[in-house]
Amino acid sequence: MKIRNSKRMAVYAAAMAIMAGAAIEVVAAEGPQPIGPKLTPRLKQMLSDEMLSVRQAAKQILDGLIVGDHSLVATQSQQIHDSFILERGLTEQDKKDLMKAAPPEFLVLDGAFHLTAKKLANAALQKDYELQRFYYARLVDSCQACHSQYATDKFPAFSGAQPEGHSH
Ligand code: HEC
Repeated sequence: MKIRNSKRMAVYAAAMAIMAGAAIEVVAAEGPQPIGPKLTPRLKQMLSDEMLSVRQAAKQILDGLIVGDHSLVATQSQQIHDSFILERGLTEQDKKDLMKAAPPEFLVLDGAFHLTAKKLANAALQKDYELQRFYYARLVDSCQACHSQYATDKFPAFSGAQPEGHSH
């Protein structure tokens, strides 16, 4: 009885392992998918608004970096940080919708992006322009990293592009 049970358990475990392997393969084969089409119209609009203001801020930061305007860099970076979609008055329903549409990897990228903006703001407050350059480059990395994985419908030029790190 005991032996039969554990045999059954072993068969069950083997079946689960095969199924898990198949599931992982499917995910790996498909890769990250564009997130826009999965969002509710409301969330899509909010993301779009956020992105347009992020682009505006990124341009202003570049202007500030070029002329050493630390306070411009600081305020615009802080603004990007504060636009964090998860902190910006989402309703409970929005949060549920977002969790349904966005894989954890997307949320991690979004979190890292806003953290980098914060570090850039701090570098500007310290008037450390070398560190500002470093974090600005990292900020641009985040735009590309996310767009090339989750916005290939919006930015098809990223499709089929070499992943980050190929030429370093
Ligand atoms: C964590 C992911 C993520 C990061 C980081 C990110 N974006 Fe985006 N961005 C998106 C997604 C997803 C879309 C497509 C939204 C859609 O489908 O409407 C988008 C769209 C945009 C658009 C088009 C908006 C529109 O509606 O026309 C602009 C402009 C943009 N991003 C700028 C930026 C800039 C500049 C940065 C970096 C400073 C950045 N984004 C960082 C995810 C990201």
